[in-house]
Amino acid sequence: MSRTKVAGLVVVAITAALCLRGEADAQKTKGKTRLTSTKLMMKGLVAANCGDLKKALDAKEVNWDDVILKASLLNESGYLLMDDGRCPDGEWAKAAKSLQAQSAEVLAKADAKDLEGAKTAFGELTKTSCAVCHAAHKGK
Ligand code: HEC
Repeated sequence: MSRTKVAGLVVVAITAALCLRGEADAQKTKGKTRLTSTKLMMKGLVAANCGDLKKALDAKEVNWDDVILKASLLNESGYLLMDDGRCPDGEWAKAAKSLQAQSAEVLAKADAKDLEGAKTAFGELTKTSCAVCHAAHKGK
């Protein structure tokens, strides 16, 4: 199959997917121009690093490099969730900013090798970010 045909099919598939999804929630399920859906961003980036961060903080012997890696990627995802017109409203923005702030707090505690502090910051992260955005937008 030629390259233009493949490209054409991809465009048709994306357009069809957008139409099926409906214009109303196009922004929260996907950004305006980039290809990664919110669902996949959650699965591969946000939830994956959140689960790994919890494991890293609960490990018998804490590997701080692991904690820093996972918390940094969560921090970055807090910015990605605000990019490309994906953010639909204030609840989303509040939760995404909280993801930025609380992951930064985990990083500050990791720098100080303060395990209890890092765990507290992580608990706040799940309460003020994941839970807040999901209550407003997941499955809605
Ligand atoms: C700013 C909003 C927002 C934040 C913050 C957020 N999520 Fe989500 N999440 C969503 C939305 C919207 C969906 C539903 C996506 C869909 O089905 O199209 C979702 C779906 C999910 C899913 C299901 C993915 C799937 O495969 O169906 C998981 C798991 C998840 N989020 C984990 C997390 C975790 C863990 C956090 C916190 C570290 C988090 N999310 C923070 C908006 C958010």
